[in-house]
Amino acid sequence: MYLVDNKQVLLCVGGGIAAYKAAELTRRFMDAGASVNVAMTRASQAFIQPLTLQALSRRPVATELLSVTQEAEIGHIKLAEDADVVLVAPATANLIARMAMGMADDVVTATLLATKAPVVVAPAMNGRMLEHPAVVENISRLEDFGYRVVRPDSGELACGYHGPGRLPDPEVLIEEVGAALTDQDMRGLRVLVSAGPTREPFDPVRYISNRSSGRMGYAVARAARRRGADVTLVSGPVTLSAPHGCSVVQVETAAQMKDAMVGRVTDSDVVVMVAAVADYRPSETSDTKLKKSDSGISIELQRTEDILQRLSAARGDRVVVGFAAETTDVKGYAAKKLADKNLDLIVANDVSAEGAGFDTETNSAVLISRDGREESTGVISKDELADRLLDGALALRSPAQALNRRA
Ligand code: CTP
Repeated sequence: MYLVDNKQVLLCVGGGIAAYKAAELTRRFMDAGASVNVAMTRASQAFIQPLTLQALSRRPVATELLSVTQEAEIGHIKLAEDADVVLVAPATANLIARMAMGMADDVVTATLLATKAPVVVAPAMNGRMLEHPAVVENISRLEDFGYRVVRPDSGELACGYHGPGRLPDPEVLIEEVGAALTDQDMRGLRVLVSAGPTREPFDPVRYISNRSSGRMGYAVARAARRRGADVTLVSGPVTLSAPHGCSVVQVETAAQMKDAMVGRVTDSDVVVMVAAVADYRPSETSDTKLKKSDSGISIELQRTEDILQRLSAARGDRVVVGFAAETTDVKGYAAKKLADKNLDLIVANDVSAEGAGFDTETNSAVLISRDGREESTGVISKDELADRLLDGALALRSPAQALNRRA
């Protein structure tokens, strides 16, 4: 995966019940292309064996600060220097307190003091402990240090309590670690993204739709959020899980998508229409299920409104980005759509090409800007294409807009 690929992650494990999740976390980081060093507090070793994490990370695990052999073989200063990013998960109340005080009484806290790498902290504990003013104050101190604190999930806790305090899922932690490694060049910007197909019903159980999986739009939402933007994602029906940290609005039809986008556009700085909006919908929708007969049926279709055109017509100083799915003369048709729909940037992909289009992890696109710039990406991941698109959108913002954002 693109986010933490080739990165050296230092996972610091605290002593709470969620420590058992460090095993899965280590695996998932490695699957995502990272290498993982693990450092453990003494309490965490009561919940999970260092040997487990050593076997999974294929590296020696740091458990002791005052050990002649470990200091020679691993060394907390080397661990601190080698890390591209540090993740403290789970961060218990005790570990958070020691970090906030700047203590160096074990290998985890000493390494944290010695590192220059960005630090992500994932608190996990009983909900009442989490609310205690001492913990709240310590967490805010960690934020003052510039650490990125991940809000715990809510749900059933091991202690029987129901509420906030759970360690978030590995994909959320990987996303947060990815964000900690990413330049926050979209902080203060509001990004509105549409994704997925729409469904146009002709009776209560049937509809016309298309093959869009929503992956590209979800990748754009995640990338913008990772770069610090406030993201609203308007999504047609897809099977993907909601991107972490984005506000998601679920819609079904083109008309609902139009209302959702038009209603939010004034609160946005960048609009990206990735959705495969149905161009046609049935002229009539039956309230009851249509019964079959021996003869064929015809369904009359009528055009849906072009949402992108509507948004770009009232754009103000917003940057408006569209997509084009083509099978022939990709650049020619895309340039025409850029002009016809009055866009700032268009991302055109040849959906018939190998490694591009619907339901793939990769895409191959041409980005054409209103200022004539043109970039062919070759086959790249949808995550990477999302970043290229956002680079293009940022480059089109005027210096005055950029100044406003900083103000
Ligand atoms: N779009 C939209 N509203 C529609 C249809 C499309 O906002 N009713 C947006 C899509 O989200 C995408 C771009 O317009 O950003 C695609 O343009 P479009 O002309 O619809 O592309 P195609 O459907 O590929 O057009 P054609 O069939 O003419 O190639």
